[in-house]
Amino acid sequence: MNTADPKIIVALDFPAEAPALTLLERLDPALCRLKIGKEMFTRLGPRFVDQVIVRGFDVFLDLKYHDIPNTVAAACDAAADLGVWMMNLHASGGRRMMETAMERLAARGERPLLIAVTILTSLGEAELHEIGFSGTPEDNVRRLASLAQGCGLDGVVCSPREAATLRAERGEDFLLVTPGVRPAGAALNDQTRVMTPAEAMLAGASHLVVGRPITAADDPLAALRAIDAEIAAV
Ligand code: C5P
Repeated sequence: MNTADPKIIVALDFPAEAPALTLLERLDPALCRLKIGKEMFTRLGPRFVDQVIVRGFDVFLDLKYHDIPNTVAAACDAAADLGVWMMNLHASGGRRMMETAMERLAARGERPLLIAVTILTSLGEAELHEIGFSGTPEDNVRRLASLAQGCGLDGVVCSPREAATLRAERGEDFLLVTPGVRPAGAALNDQTRVMTPAEAMLAGASHLVVGRPITAADDPLAALRAIDAEIAAV
């Protein structure tokens, strides 16, 4: 684990290994962790995770597991074997799925962090109702965050817009990992309702997931340092 405990998690969303490794040469593991998602893991597999870890970076493996309890628990155990720092699953997989995964990780002694996705921010209310959920997306986020905490999970992924409510309801120790963060003046890309890094931290985020404002910057380390300085001042 990175003893510097950086709060910024850089989203490594590249179609191939070479540009990702080039970026790693230009970042500092004392200032950030890295998120590896479905695209890079599917293309490059566990060997790529290892390449990132040997360079000194903590890895958040963002594969959002959702399956029967035994399968998810086994996948979490396999991710822990890779040496990742954090992983996630879908809270809508239910109590037994989350509890079984947590039990499997806890049995290891020193374990990675396990957080939950509540409701995908891409789902609007109509789509949510179509798949059988009632109430607003926010109602469902709050309910599933409560369930995840009750199952012993370490936190949730959430929009910065949800951070203040979840921080108030779930207490100080629950991790709130927020994408949808853009420094003032940065390109929004496909994000819509964003907050600045400082606003997200003030709202209660514990960690920020930031991709393109760093990965697509001319000077990624300068972009990372600027965000780090902004949140250090909070
Ligand atoms: O480049 P950008 O900062 O938009 O990257 C954000 C990262 O966070 C991407 O990997 C994206 O898939 C992820 N993410 C998100 N919004 C969510 C959940 C995950 O942007 N609700």
